[in-house]
Amino acid sequence: MRLFLTFEGGEGSGKTTQIHLLAEALKKRGFPCLLTREPGGTEIGAEIRRILLDGKNHRLSPLSELMLYAADRAQHIEETIAPALAENRIVLCDRFTDATVAYQGFGRHLDLKLITELNQLATGGLKPNRTFLLDLPVEIGLARATARLERQKSSEGRFEAEALAFHEKVRQGYLRLAREEPERFRVFDATMEIEALHGKILEEIESLGIKKP
Ligand code: TMP
Repeated sequence: MRLFLTFEGGEGSGKTTQIHLLAEALKKRGFPCLLTREPGGTEIGAEIRRILLDGKNHRLSPLSELMLYAADRAQHIEETIAPALAENRIVLCDRFTDATVAYQGFGRHLDLKLITELNQLATGGLKPNRTFLLDLPVEIGLARATARLERQKSSEGRFEAEALAFHEKVRQGYLRLAREEPERFRVFDATMEIEALHGKILEEIESLGIKKP
């Protein structure tokens, strides 16, 4: 089944946990699917991801940051996403174009029209069939994300180091995108228990024609 599903949300929203649970559930139902992410869904993308997320790179300029996300995406579409969709697989992607609008557009105040054009260029116009937005208060998400970075001794803390006000703008940006495209977006309360949220996402997936085994 050819289906392109994306997961979005602020830091610590639990989207990575949910996307893995969904991939497992789909495989159990016999649907071949590909689980991938941005940035870093390809080998070249992994190198771009390191530059983008390394907490040491606080000198990266907003425009340079935007271009690197676009470069990661162009590579990802061509090398991974488009071929998987051409094989009629379900593609589950942890962040996609909406993240650029929310973070670089609403968060960094880069020109929204430029971002739309770059997204169009990088994706060739490919749009997700559904986008699951996991929404939660930024203080809760950041506390979760920071604890995880410490636990994993990860150096990927460049965005977590941004002020609460930045993350609030990102959150409001995502919610605005969801209001603008209600047929594509499904917004969930990410403070919900993991299993309960997984159940809600499965219900939505079933409405797309993926039935219980
Ligand atoms: P994640 O793996 O936790 O989702 O981290 C990726 C980070 O990159 C996250 O802080 C959001 C940020 N990001 C952008 O700023 N713009 C983008 O286009 C994408 C895909 C991610």
